[in-house]
Amino acid sequence: MTQPFVNPLEEVASGKTADPCILVIFGATGDLTSRKLLPALYNLAREGQLPSHFACVGFARREKSNDQFRSEMLDAVSQHSRVKPIDQALWSSFSEQLFYHGGAFDDDAAYESLRLFLDDLDAKFGTKGNRVFYLSVPPSYFPTITTKLGAHGLIVDPEKVHDRWTRVIVEKPFGHDLQSSLQLQSDLTTHFKEEQIYRIDHYLGKETVQNLLVIRFANSIFESLWNNKHIDHVQITVAEDQGVGTRGKFYEEAGMLRDIVQNHLMQLLSLVAMEPPVNLKADSIRDEKVKVLESIRPIPIDEMEKYVVRGQYGPGFINGEAVKGYTQEESVAVSSVVETYVAMQLFIDNWRWVGVPFYLRAAKRMPKRATEIAVYFKEAPGVLFKRASKKDDANVLVMRIQPDEGVSLRMNSKVPGINSPIQPVKMDFRYGSYFGSAPPEAYERLLCDCILGDSTLFAREDEVLASWRLLTPVLEHWQQTRPHDFPNYASGTWGPDAADALLERDDRHWRFL
Ligand code: BG6
Repeated sequence: MTQPFVNPLEEVASGKTADPCILVIFGATGDLTSRKLLPALYNLAREGQLPSHFACVGFARREKSNDQFRSEMLDAVSQHSRVKPIDQALWSSFSEQLFYHGGAFDDDAAYESLRLFLDDLDAKFGTKGNRVFYLSVPPSYFPTITTKLGAHGLIVDPEKVHDRWTRVIVEKPFGHDLQSSLQLQSDLTTHFKEEQIYRIDHYLGKETVQNLLVIRFANSIFESLWNNKHIDHVQITVAEDQGVGTRGKFYEEAGMLRDIVQNHLMQLLSLVAMEPPVNLKADSIRDEKVKVLESIRPIPIDEMEKYVVRGQYGPGFINGEAVKGYTQEESVAVSSVVETYVAMQLFIDNWRWVGVPFYLRAAKRMPKRATEIAVYFKEAPGVLFKRASKKDDANVLVMRIQPDEGVSLRMNSKVPGINSPIQPVKMDFRYGSYFGSAPPEAYERLLCDCILGDSTLFAREDEVLASWRLLTPVLEHWQQTRPHDFPNYASGTWGPDAADALLERDDRHWRFL
């Protein structure tokens, strides 16, 4: 009997068993812990994916008791878990493994008491000295926390100690430009080896993003067409209908290029364009991804506006409701020129892709939320069948990352009837209806993989640096040239006119989403 395919990325992880361990979350009173991390841990517990010997400790400045922390986390999980309602019996046993440790990030006494506390938990839960430290804090705290962890004997060196391990998970942004990213790396590697560092880009934990490799490399029909002979161009879109909301302060420092393009968008690009890896080991996959990033043609500084478009949303309407412009959002300067929209045209100068444009866009306050990759194939010669209009004839393979996760292929078909015309039709696969269950949240997969010691779905240092190397000149150029047309798109529209012009000059257009 034919065996069903297994996701090869899961196959990598499934050969391993999760070691006992304690997860310590620095910044445990923050948004990420309540919205993502605790719901992910609860769902991993529900599915029996946590190690059988496990504990989780929240570390943050505020003083609070374990009971108070557990009750807050119950509220958070009840609100944000992908599976509801919460199983109270399961929560009761799960929450017995959940603790809170108050302390300032620079307070030596807090780390000393943390060490003793973790040793006690080892004795109680059989967690054997293994630790995951999750740094859910602004990067400016990384050096302080890692130095204190090191000074208080909380980090083990994998080259010297073999019967227990320490891993650290860091959240993006991995620096704010090339220079700061190098500094961050040097701070982290003072205390950790690269193999101990897990840089989270939560896009890599998304089921549909993992499936990109399966679609490409488990289907010979696609891979053999995946090159400049057959592909006309590729469009990658990360569109959100939300504005910056309560994150105005963060956005004022970050902007769209740092927030999404440098990480999520570049990860999608590298997965779509990479060569087949020699095997499915973490480094083999990441070696191929980094080659793509390093092959992207540098954006010429003197022609930056030709290749990169920035925008900022003004007031407008989303789903019929009036919404504010970016500069009216909380904690945003009225004269801010921070970008909430980026579109760019990139070229990958290697044998597979030379001459194929990659159009990328990432934006807030678009008419709808949609993340997808659209691969446009070259048109068939018109010698036999010509349509009246040349627009939208080409075959397009669309991989919808979210929402409405799925894959569709547009092709031309005869409309039934005598002398009837040709019309594009769509073959559509939808995860939801086909598999009938919601995929796990990205953070579930990523926490599980880190505990298993599998770094395939985490960004490696050289990937992060290659991406900064490409984009830092754009940031520098923008710093020197203030835009005069901001806001240049209304909320609820598809972005500035200049972004349309980016494709129109090549006789192409953005896909209608
Ligand atoms: C985060 C960005 O990394 O990704 C946010 O900081 C963005 O600005 C979010 O909204 C989008 O994630 P998702 O999973 O909803 O696509």
